[in-house]
Amino acid sequence: MQIPQDLIETAALKLKSIQSEAEFFQLRAQFLGKKSFIASSFSKLRDLKSEEKVIAAKELNILKDDLTKLFETALAEMENKSNLVKLDVTLPADPYNLGSEHPITKISKKIIKYFAPLNYQIFSGNEIETDFYNFEALNFPENHPARQMHDTFYLNSKSSSDYLLRTHTSNTQIHAMLSEDLPLYMLSPGRVFRCDSDTTHLPMFTQIEGLVVDEGVTFGDLKGILIDFLEDFFNEKMDVRFRPSYFPFTEPSAEVDIKFGNKGWLEILGCGMVHPNVLKGCNIDTKKFRGFAFGMGIERLAMLYYGVTDIREFYSSNLDFLNQFPS
Ligand code: DAH
Repeated sequence: MQIPQDLIETAALKLKSIQSEAEFFQLRAQFLGKKSFIASSFSKLRDLKSEEKVIAAKELNILKDDLTKLFETALAEMENKSNLVKLDVTLPADPYNLGSEHPITKISKKIIKYFAPLNYQIFSGNEIETDFYNFEALNFPENHPARQMHDTFYLNSKSSSDYLLRTHTSNTQIHAMLSEDLPLYMLSPGRVFRCDSDTTHLPMFTQIEGLVVDEGVTFGDLKGILIDFLEDFFNEKMDVRFRPSYFPFTEPSAEVDIKFGNKGWLEILGCGMVHPNVLKGCNIDTKKFRGFAFGMGIERLAMLYYGVTDIREFYSSNLDFLNQFPS
């Protein structure tokens, strides 16, 4: 075992330059503490052959005694000197911060909590996706103008075989319909990406997708569940408006607005009956089964729920902002 001969000298030299008691204790830990050279050498003794072990143990013990004496003397000297900053062990320790769930996670969980007892399964989707799942299978044919509204981040050149960052969680509808047995009740929260940024838009945001495929499902069921969900979410009776809209993957389609305080009508989600082309593309018998779907922006709901006016706050890593959402 190699034992450095200058350990004592190095320690003595370092001791000369310390300015405070705290530095002294740090230095002592460095030379004699659990992670010191001495401590780790003692634990390596067991790997040595017995004669070697005896010699090394002797040397190490001498070194340890010398170092201990050096530090004891230095401590005694230091206690006599008044110009060193004294360590006041009675001072309270630095406060530590407890982390808590991010407000977006809290809102996702709150939404899931409503749907889970209704037997909606949670699906995690792919963030990196192909054109097929993000657009084509959702009835956005190539060159369809609705694709332009999505401000897609393409990962390679723009061609249908390439990968992209999904622009919505609706891609999980296709994965779920292709892989699961019917009837299907699913919910899929996750991050989505669009090339967009201002006080109400972010290049990355969070959506939650809902999909039901079952026999005899109607638009009335969709309306019922969404109104009930919104009233449960905001914990009050709500004015809810279903406004006719257009999404390629639903027919009929609607956007849902709620009347919120003195802000008037606010758009909160998109929904509709799953387009027969989408069902057929997933090999679903449209004579037997029908579906409804809905998708909402979680940041949007969180902004209304918590009264946040700038969406960028959620991702600013500003502790003053985040501390408002304790566990
Ligand atoms: N994917 C749509 C969007 O991001 C939102 C949406 C609308 C989802 C209607 C749906 C739906 O499931 O039925 O703009």
